[in-house]
Amino acid sequence: MTKGRNVTEPYAAVDLIRRKRDGGVLTTDEINWLVDRYTAGFVGDEQMAAMAMAIFLRGMERREIHDLTQAMIASGERMDFSSLSKPTTDKHSTGGVGDKITLPLMPLVASFGVAVPQLSGRGLGHTGGTLDKLESIPGWRAELSNAEILQQLDEVGGVICAAGSGLAPADKKLYALRDITGTVEAIPLIASSIMSKKIAEGTDALVLDVKYGAGSFMGAIERSRELAETMVALGTDAGVKVSALITSMEAPLGYAIGNANEVRESVEVLAGGGPADIVELTVETAREMLALVGIPDADVEGHLRDGKAMDVWRKFVIAQGGDPDAPLPVAPEQHEVRAERDGVVVAQDAYKFGVGAWRLGAGRARAADPVVHSAGIDLAVKPGDAVRKGDLLYTLHAENADRFALALDSLDGALELGEPGTEVSVTPLIAERIQAN
Ligand code: URA
Repeated sequence: MTKGRNVTEPYAAVDLIRRKRDGGVLTTDEINWLVDRYTAGFVGDEQMAAMAMAIFLRGMERREIHDLTQAMIASGERMDFSSLSKPTTDKHSTGGVGDKITLPLMPLVASFGVAVPQLSGRGLGHTGGTLDKLESIPGWRAELSNAEILQQLDEVGGVICAAGSGLAPADKKLYALRDITGTVEAIPLIASSIMSKKIAEGTDALVLDVKYGAGSFMGAIERSRELAETMVALGTDAGVKVSALITSMEAPLGYAIGNANEVRESVEVLAGGGPADIVELTVETAREMLALVGIPDADVEGHLRDGKAMDVWRKFVIAQGGDPDAPLPVAPEQHEVRAERDGVVVAQDAYKFGVGAWRLGAGRARAADPVVHSAGIDLAVKPGDAVRKGDLLYTLHAENADRFALALDSLDGALELGEPGTEVSVTPLIAERIQAN
């Protein structure tokens, strides 16, 4: 018997790896077998890593990506919201710096009587995680049982909680492997990874916020568009109503980058204020999510002004054990960065600000690390703002002043100051909309 073959198995992983390596196509049965046997531990990590690299280099046809997604869904449980008397609508963002949109968005959309099951993750690397931000609220808990999720969707209208490990376990295993083998950035793998979890979650409708630019993990807008189109097609094939927004992650979103400070900024939006970019993205995403479930032209700004969205937020925080009136943690140490001359803020590099906040303690290097909820960066200016010498540009917050030197290193060149009077053309936040064909 040739090494790596087993007479009781219909395929050998090495044959499939070779075929993909040479630019061939895998059949539905082969993909189902590979994912099933990988989840069971029969196909080893070293073989799956080789396959991930072959897919990274050779790509996959639409049918193969569909099959991979379905096989990962079939590796675990599927949520079922059919007992609810209202439609479910959700959003997924590919992640960015200062991206706290889920926090005001969930209560805003739920305030229109639809259910928003937002199963979220924790942050890794320079982009923050929604659960980490919410865990700044004293008492708030991320872990809910399926029964609690259903009850909260019924009674409050929305939930933001940890995605259970039962959803697409094959993806969980494969994603961890991709993370350490340089194969995260393959579009077929990203699209099937994200969509397997979202389809298994069982939402009726889904809006994808696909980022491009310095702080995004896709980088160029062309790749973000290709990812968005692939995911919209996968969702549509699976019977989910999906659309996507391609949005800029050149500069951080809003002024707050961290955890507790991002919750504070989100509450400002729910109180009818907040930064213009956060409000714009929240409002536009809410419109998309509502339109997909048959509520077009909703007065979403009205629900931010009149407190309806805030009411849902308070109920949601309380339902998950938190106190919406409790003070949020504040870091004991601050370091201010001020303008060395007069000028105009030409650009803020989202990636550098993300790494800076991460080094202050707002993010984690390994999945098991804790985050410091009070750590982060508060920007005082946005691109296009004129400043005078000595004006505040941003403030660093940390538990320990030792953190500042490394953070400042990574913030070198993060904010570009042009000559006074420089005209700055600020990139539109929402670049494109992608709808199902
Ligand atoms: N997020 C995911 O869930 N999967 C990926 O592959 C990339 C980002």
